[in-house]
Amino acid sequence: MSSDSVPTLVTCGLPYANGPAHIGHLRTYVPADIFVRGLRKMGRDVLFLCGSDAHGTPIVVNAESQGLSPQELVNRYHQHFDSVFRGMNVIFDYFGSTDAPSNHIRTQEIVRSLMDGGHVYPQEIELAFCPKCQRFLPDRYVEGICPYCGVPSRGDECDQGCGRHLEPGEIKEAVCKVCGSRAEYRKQVHYFFRLSAFRDFLLEHLKSLGGTASARNYAAEWVRQELKDWCITRNMSWGVKFPGDDRLVVYVWVDAPIGYISFTEEWARAHGEDWERYWKAPSDIIHFIGGDIIYHHCIFWPAMLKGAGYTRPSAVVASGMLKVDEKKFSKSRGYVVWVKDDYLDQGLEPDYLRYYLASYTSHTKDVNFAWKIFQEKLNSELVGAFGNFLNRAITFSVKNFDGKVPKGDIDPEVQERIGAAVSDAISALHEYEFKKMADGIMSLADFANTYFQSREPWKLVRSDRQAAASAVRSCLQMAKALVILMQPIMPSKMEAAWQQLGLDGSANLALFSDAAVPMAQGQLLGVPKILFTKMEDSSVERLDGIFKSRIEAAAGREEKAAVKALISFDQFKAIQLRVGCVVEAEGIKGSSKLLRLVVDLGEERRQVVAGIAQAYPPQSLIGRQVVAVVNLEPAKLFGVESQAMLLAADVDGQAVLLRPDQEVPAGTMVR
Ligand code: 2FM
Ligand code: ZN
Repeated sequence: MSSDSVPTLVTCGLPYANGPAHIGHLRTYVPADIFVRGLRKMGRDVLFLCGSDAHGTPIVVNAESQGLSPQELVNRYHQHFDSVFRGMNVIFDYFGSTDAPSNHIRTQEIVRSLMDGGHVYPQEIELAFCPKCQRFLPDRYVEGICPYCGVPSRGDECDQGCGRHLEPGEIKEAVCKVCGSRAEYRKQVHYFFRLSAFRDFLLEHLKSLGGTASARNYAAEWVRQELKDWCITRNMSWGVKFPGDDRLVVYVWVDAPIGYISFTEEWARAHGEDWERYWKAPSDIIHFIGGDIIYHHCIFWPAMLKGAGYTRPSAVVASGMLKVDEKKFSKSRGYVVWVKDDYLDQGLEPDYLRYYLASYTSHTKDVNFAWKIFQEKLNSELVGAFGNFLNRAITFSVKNFDGKVPKGDIDPEVQERIGAAVSDAISALHEYEFKKMADGIMSLADFANTYFQSREPWKLVRSDRQAAASAVRSCLQMAKALVILMQPIMPSKMEAAWQQLGLDGSANLALFSDAAVPMAQGQLLGVPKILFTKMEDSSVERLDGIFKSRIEAAAGREEKAAVKALISFDQFKAIQLRVGCVVEAEGIKGSSKLLRLVVDLGEERRQVVAGIAQAYPPQSLIGRQVVAVVNLEPAKLFGVESQAMLLAADVDGQAVLLRPDQEVPAGTMVR
């Protein structure tokens, strides 16, 4: 983080207005909100922006399938995200939309200035074209094979394989997503951003980029390896018109991040402020994003800003992903928890989930969500430790000291502990380590509980009232500090605790430096109330039931789809399967998933690339019998040709190889 003499802007990746919010989204937004609240507690003036990403082919395809216009779909989900974020206490200063006129205008201005600066050039390319639909097939309108790793991929990214961004026309064996026809390749002029010319700039930029090392290192690796020019135009009508050719719109990844600028403009207009302070002068711009969009924020975006003469981000903070019940998050397989339906509408407190997400693990690692763990964290950490202390301290003072802060000295050890906890929380925030922050606060709560217990004020109050008063005042001071420290993580709950402590103002406006400011002797306390409610086993069962039935329904849908897609006996017979024996096995450089095998098929040996590296050490495969499809078109994976495919059972994404019931000669046919 740079100095506080320049204005600070924090943004969150813009959610596509294309479907409801799930807990995976919150993995980025909740920590960003905690961070902003934390900076404000350090006295920093921070602007916090987000909005919906309204363009791109998935929205058009989805709207078409629901019989809606893209505009209608976007409006629906824009409202949804806005209200879900508020419901989760994620409070942006402004929540815009990339389809707003100001974003169209700003995007066209930036693209024009990139063109004027010679950073954009036209080029004729071959693109997938559907002869039946009579249209070019941008991005999600097309499915095919990734030219880099050979894995089936869709549109503009290889999301199942190597993760690369795919340029228009790059996808192989293209099929139209709308009608299923095999696409042809036709020529058309498109416009390219000369990203390759920004190599040296990007290497320098990444060296000084703040945020998480994960973002910096991942991006630097890409820049060092290859930097291809980006096609920034698409054949569509939904989007921002390309200023050089009205028939085209700009690629969604051009106008989406520009939303960060146009939302600043919209916010500034409404508040009589100057947006250029953030984007045309030195400033501290911090982007919070999911780990899957590092490339766009650390490579494409700063190059575009540099080319058009805007201020570049100073930090990119990339979060890990979310797992549900230890399984990879998947909407289609039912491994998803919807924020509105499954959480807020069930009457659950937003702050509990915020605490879970912040405290589960380091920001860059994957969070696993399970109702059982949710219950454990709530019952033991929030109810048992943190809430227990606040309640004991306040209740005891109210009962024994006329509802006031007693007259006594605060223990210097307590003040020292508070000081250390505050500086630890500040360092954790500067490191984007929200778990460290939560753990630090909880260890102050543990210390406070032990302190209360060991001082035994319930005995002291009879034997040495003055000593009891000091112990209780010290405890109340720790309660105040805990509330201030925890406020960024649990804003609603800490506001309620602030009232119970009878303090003026609000927990929201209190600064970290207020934590050690002594509560005035004789100050009236509020009414103590239980802050956190225990979660019963029956609630866990009920919520787990909702989750499990969704997984079952998804499995049922998959089964039905499989039954529907019957194939003829002739089609089955067209697949040639043979038993082979593995004679060589080794890893493939650059891939953590693939192995290169040589399989003896009796009359011949074939090289096979198999995605089984995570399940089998290469040496364990030598001499093992396998079943191979031998009449599949060869494909190149990581530059290695695969001449057959091995059959394996898919157990939650892990491959388990098939083999015959007893050893048979290599090359034996399977029928
Ligand atoms: O990946 C996504 O969900 C995009 N909608 C994020 C856009 S962030 C920014 F660049 F606009
Ligand atoms: Zn790929």
